[in-house]
Amino acid sequence: MRVSGRLRPPGDKSITHRLLIFGSLARGRCLLRGALRSRDTQSKIDVLRLLGVRVEDGSGGVLAVEGKGLRGLAQPTKVLDCGNSGTTARFLIGVLAAYPYKSQITGDESLRARPMRRVTDPLTRMGARFEYERGDGLPVVVHGGELVELDYRLPMASAQVKSALLLAGLVSGVRVRIEEPARSRDHTERLLAALGHAVRVEGGVIDFQPSGEIAEFDAQVAGDFSAASFLIGAATLADEGELILENVGANPTRLGLVSVLQRMGSQIEIRNVGTSVGEPVAEILVRPCQLRGVVVSPDEVPSLIDEIPVLAVLAARAQGETVFEGVGELAFKESDRLSLLASNLRSLGVAAESTRDSLVVTGTDKPLKGFVDTGGDHRLAMAFSVLAASHRSEIELSESDSPRVSYPDFFNHLRQIFSGDE
Ligand code: S3P
Repeated sequence: MRVSGRLRPPGDKSITHRLLIFGSLARGRCLLRGALRSRDTQSKIDVLRLLGVRVEDGSGGVLAVEGKGLRGLAQPTKVLDCGNSGTTARFLIGVLAAYPYKSQITGDESLRARPMRRVTDPLTRMGARFEYERGDGLPVVVHGGELVELDYRLPMASAQVKSALLLAGLVSGVRVRIEEPARSRDHTERLLAALGHAVRVEGGVIDFQPSGEIAEFDAQVAGDFSAASFLIGAATLADEGELILENVGANPTRLGLVSVLQRMGSQIEIRNVGTSVGEPVAEILVRPCQLRGVVVSPDEVPSLIDEIPVLAVLAARAQGETVFEGVGELAFKESDRLSLLASNLRSLGVAAESTRDSLVVTGTDKPLKGFVDTGGDHRLAMAFSVLAASHRSEIELSESDSPRVSYPDFFNHLRQIFSGDE
């Protein structure tokens, strides 16, 4: 199989989510260029509209958000359904914790199974109150109000939780100090700083002192490295050729996959070409190569948390064993990725074992054949499609609809990079 071409991945999902929220809380009309349009970001837009925010499609794919100011979101008259989007649910819980009214948040079956107390526990310390119907999952009723400042050590590295707390601080105008066990993606800190707020980050501690309203902005969103990672994986498994990915966000807190691939033997090159809203942007060059197994250590995991599915299928084709340590958080994603990665790899004939906190995959060059249960999870569907697109694989997926959550053009792009193949 020959890989070729130049391609732009879709807009960054994490940054689009953040700019939609910041745009809604800004004073004035905010423009988002290159934003991700997908099922997940549509869930965010739908929920923001229920809070009285006008979001419009302008010409040239520009999204216009009419900001309401920090305290201007209307009390919703309906339940806020966040669909499959954990980022939407957790960010909204943070924002609405600071609003002096009652609101209710829910999501689809996958989202209702995901833990929310990791967000609501620290928000309770800040003064908000939450009612759960059961356990730790949505739906949750938020009783928000004036909040007090927070000094908190996060039990897990989670950018969603960290961001929810920073948003609560922003809206209520109180200081928030967060200590992270490991550095998670720092888009919220960078964007707050780019929008004029004081965020100090030192020795794993984020110290945020809000300084009032957000002014209107015009922001360019770079391409999503996590979406690009599936094409990187597909190109790595090809036999010849090369692939260039343009305009890809290259925030160092997201690039763990690059260093792991280099350790595995890849010559992947990443060339910084600019910046956009405080975020580095790069061009990535990937060539096929035979990978060898490595150990991925717990401190690397936050920087490649969304890339573990694609890395696990690459490990299935590497020489020797790849060990992922400290990956327990994978069980709380859009599906239980930890057990589904192991069971699906096994059903294709790859030796793979998971424990509560680790995943071990032994590579093979034998033909792979079988059925994959994606659990309706976009990243599992894309990762196993990458494997299916490589030769000596006959793989049937339980569904191929979920990539619309984060990467609606995924299958077109996958076809495109192999279209020069004879
Ligand atoms: C995200 C953070 C990560 C990641 C998710 C997006 C974000 O989740 O898996 O896809 O935009 O902040 P956690 O913060 O729960 O690890």
